[in-house]
Amino acid sequence: MALMTRRRFHQTLLGTTAFLCAPRIGRADTPADLVARAGRARLAPAGYPETEVWAYDGSVPGPTLRVARGARVSRRLVNDLPQASSVHWHGIRIDNVMDGVAGLTQGAVEPGADFLYDFTVPDAGTYWYHPHNRSWEQMARGLYGALIVDEAEGAPDVDIDEVLLLDDWRLTEDAQIAGGFGNMHDWAHAGRIGNWITVNGDGAWSRTVQHGARMRLRLVNTANARIFSLEARGLEGWVVALDGMPLETPRPLGQLALAPAQRADLIVDVVAGDGEEAMLVSFERDGGYAIAAFNVDGVARAERLPAAGPLPPNPVAALGSLETARRAELLMEGGAMGGMRGAMMNGRMMDMRDMASAGKVWAFNGMADMPDAPLIQADRGETVRISITNDTAWPHAMHLHGHHFRKVGTDGTVGPLRDTLLMNRGETADIAFVADNPGDWLLHCHMLEHSAGGMMTWLRVA
Ligand code: C2O
Ligand code: CU
Repeated sequence: MALMTRRRFHQTLLGTTAFLCAPRIGRADTPADLVARAGRARLAPAGYPETEVWAYDGSVPGPTLRVARGARVSRRLVNDLPQASSVHWHGIRIDNVMDGVAGLTQGAVEPGADFLYDFTVPDAGTYWYHPHNRSWEQMARGLYGALIVDEAEGAPDVDIDEVLLLDDWRLTEDAQIAGGFGNMHDWAHAGRIGNWITVNGDGAWSRTVQHGARMRLRLVNTANARIFSLEARGLEGWVVALDGMPLETPRPLGQLALAPAQRADLIVDVVAGDGEEAMLVSFERDGGYAIAAFNVDGVARAERLPAAGPLPPNPVAALGSLETARRAELLMEGGAMGGMRGAMMNGRMMDMRDMASAGKVWAFNGMADMPDAPLIQADRGETVRISITNDTAWPHAMHLHGHHFRKVGTDGTVGPLRDTLLMNRGETADIAFVADNPGDWLLHCHMLEHSAGGMMTWLRVA
């Protein structure tokens, strides 16, 4: 289906596809297009040229898609890029055929072709969408957008609900996107770390707020590889959801690490005084950045509101026994300053130098390319437990498709539901989830140069 031209696609839609899908998705009304194409964005300040980007509907970020929980999302990707592409709906637990992984769940959508994405959203929260074909280049060029699913009931009472997509661009001196996407130095180190940070495509994002106002801030890290380390100034509140999923107990906002692809929903009150400025800042090895500024003008209320309560839970199945869970182990190796000498590629053992010239620098369980067999095959409804060891000198952001998991502590306690886990160098972590979404699902590092460089595997839920 993916390789067809638009005209043939329409014909097919009226025939087999519409027939097969009809009972589930209802009558095929006309879906809106989501056009992946070249565009321009004002990323850098006035005085610099606009940046030539690739973007959904030509704008960075792409359109924010916003629906109620249980509603249907219907968007036809039209590929006007010079490369094949696809759309992955990150973190949302949908049908496998709609997951958008080129080469696994669909063919890549060639230039000039299109693909209809049509699914219902089971969970409320903050999600996002991005290409899943050459994503290390396509996302670095600006292809991403937010998918916000509103609570059907019990949404928190806030004055302001703001989506903040954080990105890290590598720009040239005339504010154009730097090339070198296949740079093996980046791939073997921290990934493509940039030199220009934006929020919603703006290098100096700000808005006006009133003192005492309560805001829900939906943070999304869309960067290829940068880990943000966030703190608030003049804002006080709680983290109420991670990776879209509500925390059973909101936790006070202190320092918040946001790895690539992770999201955090905050509920914060503006405590900075009238005329002052509140801020989100990020402290990293290469410096401190003001991420977003809130200029306080006026007073919404003088007294603090009561503490934020939890968001209504999403219908995620409770974990079964961790003792009898189906188990797998995943060893992450490779990269610069690691001990890996080589790995299997195309069915034979290769040393690091030959691997690098073939574009691979990492391995999962000793294999640098996507394995033919799944890491694990689970029966539908089974609890799965995967022990992951990061035997590299770098942090990684491990993302599982189609499911949310919990990190299992050494004492057997479990953490919040997540779809992307930040693992530090040398760390071992167990994740557990109920494999209740049938299909073939990726498990990979979301530092995009790392996944392309060998950190990718998959599992099957039958
Ligand atoms: Cu955000 Cu495999 O993706
Ligand atoms: Cu990684």
